[in-house]
Amino acid sequence: MKYTISNLAASAAIFGSALAASGDFNVLTMNVAGLPEILQGNDVPGDKAVNSKTMGSKFSEYNYDMIHVQEDFNYHASIYETDNHPHRTATSGGVPFGSGLNSLSTKYFFNYNRVKWNVCSNASGADCLTPKGFTFMRVQVDEGIYVDFYNLHADAGTEPDDLTARAANLKQVADYIDANSVGNAVVVFGDTNSRYSRTADAIRVFRTQNGLTDAWVELIRDGVEPTAESLCDNPSKTDYCETVDKILYRAGATVDLKATHWGYESTKFLQPDGNILSDHNPITANFTYNPGTTLRQSDFWGGPWGNWFSDVPKLTTLSKPKAAAITVRGANRLDGVSVQLADGTIFTHGGTGGTATTLNLEPNEFWTEAVLCQGQKDGHTRNFYIKATTSTGRTAEAGNSTSDCRTSTAPAGWQIVGFMGQDGDEVDQLAFVYAPQ
Ligand SMILES: *[C@@H]1O[C@H](CO)[C@@H](O)[C@H](O)[C@H]1NC(C)=O
Ligand SMILES: *[C@@H]1O[C@H](CO)[C@@H](O)[C@H](O)[C@H]1NC(C)=O
Ligand SMILES: *[C@@H]1O[C@H](CO)[C@@H](O)[C@H](O)[C@H]1NC(C)=O
Repeated sequence: MKYTISNLAASAAIFGSALAASGDFNVLTMNVAGLPEILQGNDVPGDKAVNSKTMGSKFSEYNYDMIHVQEDFNYHASIYETDNHPHRTATSGGVPFGSGLNSLSTKYFFNYNRVKWNVCSNASGADCLTPKGFTFMRVQVDEGIYVDFYNLHADAGTEPDDLTARAANLKQVADYIDANSVGNAVVVFGDTNSRYSRTADAIRVFRTQNGLTDAWVELIRDGVEPTAESLCDNPSKTDYCETVDKILYRAGATVDLKATHWGYESTKFLQPDGNILSDHNPITANFTYNPGTTLRQSDFWGGPWGNWFSDVPKLTTLSKPKAAAITVRGANRLDGVSVQLADGTIFTHGGTGGTATTLNLEPNEFWTEAVLCQGQKDGHTRNFYIKATTSTGRTAEAGNSTSDCRTSTAPAGWQIVGFMGQDGDEVDQLAFVYAPQ
């Protein structure tokens, strides 16, 4: 299945311009042991195709909002045959072509990206046999509520080359988060092949570099990363033991996120005769989300091209931001957007082409609404047009309108003060950041 931003248009249209909502969602991560039976039996009894169908039917039955699977190689079709999640990634192939990573979701997602590891190790675990790595997606959890989800399958084994490769893998994800999830809520869940109790493992990089919290450490281990080994049975009879599969997360300024539950789901994933389905215990977590109290955001419009940017980190440092001038640039398409705040801060995104139009706002006038229209250029969806409207009804526009438009209106008592999205010479994708007036 191919995901385009137009699907988002359809779902966004249903929500209209209601205020961002609160709610909860749950996630599951499971290494589904889908290497060909002749290569790796995984010490799991029974037929792998049959077991994979059972896993798919359990995914449907328990209806997790987002499932990340690893080692989803040669029995992928069996899982998808019995699973019924509406949004799923297409397989990248069996051994030796695919990464084994897939996602099954009740929520719409976009900007999906598969990234291969820069480093792998042949020392143990045959990690160079297939192009393993990680995946990125931006999930529309609710209107104006976006969370970046990462799946991963890091290098296995404990020989020196394995440890080096695995540390490089985790650092690669951490660096990608720094570049592509700036300002955003993030959930990383997958097979890290790492344990806190194995000091050579670099799993702490997600806390130290990205500010992520491990939901298991937080909720089951009272916030203390273990230093002593505690191996799990399969199925595990306790949540206290440590597995290499992890769920880590952080909130963002526009989306508050909190883990409310973490647990092994092993006893829900058994064969009819009671045997296990995978050599890994599947794990789950529940999260509650709330719109930010000092910043919120609109939905996105445009396509997943160019580089990620966000004014959110800077905005969190300002008190009472207010737009003093709006500048929009365009000709055939939308070239650039800029807002100057009353304190002098300027946020500018996109390129310098097109004709610039500037609207200076009065002290008691706020930027409250924006229309974006998108279109196709060289087969890529991007923004073609913007019209900014203030609380007194004055407007500034740029670019060329299309028939595919979206209006973002600040919640009552709020205003537009900045942007987030993806840009290059033009404004490929855009969302607006709101602050109280
Ligand atoms: C791993 O082994 C494969 C097959 O022998 C080889 O092509 C590859 O270069 C090796 N990779 C590393 C990092 O040693
Ligand atoms: C976790 O979320 C699921 C799905 O909403 C729900 O059925 C379950 O009761 C929740 N578990 C806990 C412990 O809150
Ligand atoms: C704007 O779009 C219309 C319809 O696609 C097109 O006919 C027109 O030439 C465009 N104008 C500019 C300035 O590109």
